Amino acid sequence: MNPHRRNLLLRSAAAVAATAVRGPAFAIGGADATSADVHIELSAELDEVAIRPGAETRVWRYRAKLLAGAPAALDTSMLAPIIRVHRGQRVRIDLINDLPESTIIHWHGLHVPEDMDGHPRFAIAPGERYRYAFTVRNRAGSYWFHPHPHGRTGRQVYAGLAGLFLVSDDDEAALALPSGAFDMPLVIQDRNFDQDNQLVYPGGALAAAPQGGGMMGGRMGSMMGGMGGMGGMGGGMASMKGVFGDTILVNGVPNVLRPVERRAYRLRLFNACNSRTLKLAWSDNTALQVIASDGGLLDAPVRRDYVMLAPAERVELWVDFSRWPAGAGPVLESHAFDTGMGTGSMMRSMMGGDNTLANGAAFPVCQFKVGPAAVAGPAMPQRLTPMAPPQDRLAVNAARPKVFELTMGMMRWGINGLGFDMLAASELETVKLGTQEIWEFRNDSGAMMGMTMPHSMHIHGLQFRVIQRSVSGSHARGYDTVKAGLVDGGWKDTVLVMPGERVRVLLRFEDFTGLFLYHCHMLEHEDIGMMRNYRVVA
Ligand code: C2O
Ligand code: CU
Ligand code: CU
Repeated sequence: MNPHRRNLLLRSAAAVAATAVRGPAFAIGGADATSADVHIELSAELDEVAIRPGAETRVWRYRAKLLAGAPAALDTSMLAPIIRVHRGQRVRIDLINDLPESTIIHWHGLHVPEDMDGHPRFAIAPGERYRYAFTVRNRAGSYWFHPHPHGRTGRQVYAGLAGLFLVSDDDEAALALPSGAFDMPLVIQDRNFDQDNQLVYPGGALAAAPQGGGMMGGRMGSMMGGMGGMGGMGGGMASMKGVFGDTILVNGVPNVLRPVERRAYRLRLFNACNSRTLKLAWSDNTALQVIASDGGLLDAPVRRDYVMLAPAERVELWVDFSRWPAGAGPVLESHAFDTGMGTGSMMRSMMGGDNTLANGAAFPVCQFKVGPAAVAGPAMPQRLTPMAPPQDRLAVNAARPKVFELTMGMMRWGINGLGFDMLAASELETVKLGTQEIWEFRNDSGAMMGMTMPHSMHIHGLQFRVIQRSVSGSHARGYDTVKAGLVDGGWKDTVLVMPGERVRVLLRFEDFTGLFLYHCHMLEHEDIGMMRNYRVVA
């Protein structure tokens, strides 16, 4: 056993002995652990894994253990654990922080009470536990989970902390979509490795030595992380544009040839990159059949020549591999698009020096190899799950959408000029339980500094509908390189807002009062302040 690993075990043992448990006494209607349908322990810990040939890579990861429930509820075959639950199930998850700094888990896309949502104010120190207990209320869909400590989210996700939370329900089951090995999640991430196969992140060594340790590694550390988190000039620049890696990982590994049978598959694509937006297409220009977005199935499949997928967005494809001849190797690619940072801008020249794969550049994502004989599989349903059109006229502010400008000032991103404030929500950010509102995200103020770039706006605790997009004339040309790939018809929790664009979304605040986040999911933008709270009041 290597010394690093032995240390880890010793620390875990100590942590269990003197553990502080945070989280509500119990949230499943006063029930205890034995009445949860699924009980999982997730410890966030240091590890070393073989990602590339040669030395192992030091990572931070979730190690998952199923303590109760059907074995199918947990798949640990990938670096990222996959939790599979059914709508209506009561889930209990115990997070154990075996990292050298504070952390907390957020369930991205899930509709849960505020103290179950993983807000950074609930971050736990090393050695502490957080107990999650909630009922799965979401429709069937591809949700995910990741850390959310303020100022450190980008670093922790980059180091390897992420997992999938796949929800099924009866409507979905009735469609008999491809399942088992034919239901394939593909988690796409970009990373930079040094010559020793170690992850490179601005601000220094990753996943190696404890960051700060002691008090600084704990609650205090998380509060202050935003200040020194990125470090140095390179860090400052990376915070502004985001971190982009030149090695593309799919399910935690680079360049694997994925063998598939000649039949229909359900591919669940996750953009789990810190800041990179993807423009996904087949190498031979076969159209993509999209069956689901962030919040589950669309009402009917839609065809796209390419699909835009911003950080944290998901899309599910129906792919019939029998359309390719035996032995063929279709490649899922990301195609080039215009990120809106015009040539000659101040930012362009400042960023010219780095040699990583730029945002908006083309690259292969994942190559498949089609098996020998066609195998009978299901045909794509023409209708999926019925969905009513958004009732935007019923929004309380239908006549006057709330405006959220995505802003840059003093080398920091913000929203309406404000950075993150742990416990604050403004009047604009206060909403009433049981109502619907229209919010408009405007990505045009950065233009003043020649600093326009796409943003990926995410709202916690709910699924929304995209009801309108408009783009300013000066950005129309760049927008033409992405607009045919937007999939806005379904339920969304994250939406791409291109330079010069205004996107209106319809939100409904249901079931839970409290303080929830909304932010840019380009994690370096989020970490330096492009994040705010909204408060749902009774
Ligand atoms: Cu996946 Cu607050 O985010
Ligand atoms: Cu989220
Ligand atoms: Cu952003």
